[in-house]
Amino acid sequence: MRQAGRYLPEYRAMRARHGFLELCKSPAAAAEVTLQPVERLGVDAAILFADILLIVEPLDVGLEFATGEGPVIHRPVRDAEAVARLKPVDVESSVGFVFETARKVCRALPPRVPLVGFAGAPFTVASYVVEGGPSRDYLWVKRMMYEAPGAWRRLMEVLVDATAVYLNGQIAAGAQAVQLFDSWVGALSPDDYREHVLPHSRALIGKLTPEVPVIHFGTGTSALLPLMREAGGDVIGLDWRVDLDAAWAAVGYDVGVQGNLDPATLLGPVGTIRARAERILERAGGRPGHIFNLGHGVLKETPPENVKALVDIVHEASSRR
Ligand code: CP3
Repeated sequence: MRQAGRYLPEYRAMRARHGFLELCKSPAAAAEVTLQPVERLGVDAAILFADILLIVEPLDVGLEFATGEGPVIHRPVRDAEAVARLKPVDVESSVGFVFETARKVCRALPPRVPLVGFAGAPFTVASYVVEGGPSRDYLWVKRMMYEAPGAWRRLMEVLVDATAVYLNGQIAAGAQAVQLFDSWVGALSPDDYREHVLPHSRALIGKLTPEVPVIHFGTGTSALLPLMREAGGDVIGLDWRVDLDAAWAAVGYDVGVQGNLDPATLLGPVGTIRARAERILERAGGRPGHIFNLGHGVLKETPPENVKALVDIVHEASSRR
């Protein structure tokens, strides 16, 4: 999940000097931000510092990270004409800086710490492109799926092609696993997922460099987990709204699971953090293939020492098992 970010004073210090996109586009600074949580927390993997929306900037939709508001797309793509105008993305020339960051990070990481690359899954990236920003109900997206299914399909294909090259580029630059974030897919019914998302997520995963583990994550997905598993991934990422044991049974034990502590737990006392973390490990039952993680990214209100306490608790508890 997101482990760099505004809860870390050293990240805020970097942000005081650089805009968010500027930070993403400066490989030396982005590599430094990637390494900050690894050094401070002792986590088992580094997460590349980038964003799922970098890949849409070359679509010329007017991407901006407005202060305090999150991402804004000034020219959302809401109809078949707008989709038809989209040009294929030249990944190397538009987001090659991410590959440079990955190379720098890999050179700096201790050998025991792998780099995890990532991208947004086509639905979640399309949701920003179509809605113009975050959304509650995804009405523009759903309208396009129902009214202009051909345009929706075309938009997904543009994103699948760009994202495949983007993730394979991260892998070539040294990422040892990749995570696909379908963060907002829980807005969909199982039928809409099956018809309008699953084929595209599956096509994307099918284009990725073989043998590199793929973590496939979403939130609000309890009804979608078996379908996400059908779409693909070696590991299914779980949010905190499901019990890990039931969710693992639902996706099948031939895939791994990642998760799933509620990030808000980290706002509470260490005793509660410990109890909840241990319960998740009990639910995983010592079965190989569980990656302990939060059920979503670290909240900006989180005291960094609580994240460090969690890492130590998980390391200590898993070494006892
Ligand atoms: O550990 C890391 O280095 C994390 C890197 C990372 C970022 N974005 C940096 C970021 C990752 C893995 C992402 C993915 C991402 N971006 C997702 C999927 C993961 C998820 O949380 O569901 C999504 C939906 C986005 C889109 C996005 N980017 C939003 C909605 C926002 C604003 C809201 C927020 O949480 O701040 C961003 C901005 C963003 N991306 C920040 C960071 C550190 C904060 C920006 C800032 O510094 O002002």
